[in-house]
Amino acid sequence: MKVVHTVEELRDQLRGQLRAAFVPTMGNLHEGHLSLMRMARQHGDPVVASIFVNRLQFGPNEDFDRYPRTLQADIEKLERERDVYVLFAPNETEMYPEPQSFRIQPPEDLGGILEGHFRPGFFDGVSTVVMKLFSCVQPSVAVFGKKDYQQLMVVRKMCRQFQLPVRILAHETVRDTDGLALSSRNMYLSPAERAEAPQLYAGLQAVQARIKSGQADLRDIEGAAAQALEKRGWKVDYLALRRQHDLNEPTTEQIQQGEPLVVLAAAKLGNTRLIDNLEI
Ligand code: PAF
Repeated sequence: MKVVHTVEELRDQLRGQLRAAFVPTMGNLHEGHLSLMRMARQHGDPVVASIFVNRLQFGPNEDFDRYPRTLQADIEKLERERDVYVLFAPNETEMYPEPQSFRIQPPEDLGGILEGHFRPGFFDGVSTVVMKLFSCVQPSVAVFGKKDYQQLMVVRKMCRQFQLPVRILAHETVRDTDGLALSSRNMYLSPAERAEAPQLYAGLQAVQARIKSGQADLRDIEGAAAQALEKRGWKVDYLALRRQHDLNEPTTEQIQQGEPLVVLAAAKLGNTRLIDNLEI
């Protein structure tokens, strides 16, 4: 695997490549990321990964400074797996040599709801860096995890509306054996919090079970699931049942008629904010 730190070196490595498959990450790689790399390998050649902790997508009171930076261990993991041909690991001045005043702003009705509501500017930061990374790598395919469901939808819409020649592939969320979705932020959890953390996914499964049993009262279903988590000590930002195709609220009729739904949640356990979702 070639590790490059500048856009120029990256372009030298990829010159003439038309089928590159790309996996953007913020590092601290776990099995979830590695499965994205494997999927990329099945859909393009060469596989390019990036590791860049993107300041633009963090709010002023978020965890940018303490976000785990583990480049050497990440390189070793990627070397062992042998899926990736080039790793692009730029520093901040390489990615943002001047203040990034030119931004991509997703539409409010997709980027301003749910995560975007609780993390203002988050999807502007994600879209801007993804656009920039796509411009550096020029992949034909890029792989994103479904754990960041809304991010995946934002990126897809951006590609569609800007006619970017990049096919976006989605990988299923990778979970620990107890159901907890793998995330770099899981490492912030204390042992007691780690034991409690799978309850977030359990809450989503409870929503799924109610829908499958024919219940269709959106407010009641969302409210009960959020309350159950709050009772256990979670602070729920949102727990929302939405339509898969646009993240709008489904009507009762749509729920009854089997509209494809997704339940998405973000909640804090102590100081750690976890997100998860489940397609129904
Ligand atoms: O999902 C992530 O890790 C990040 O949001 C991404 C897509 C790498 C952009 O910084």
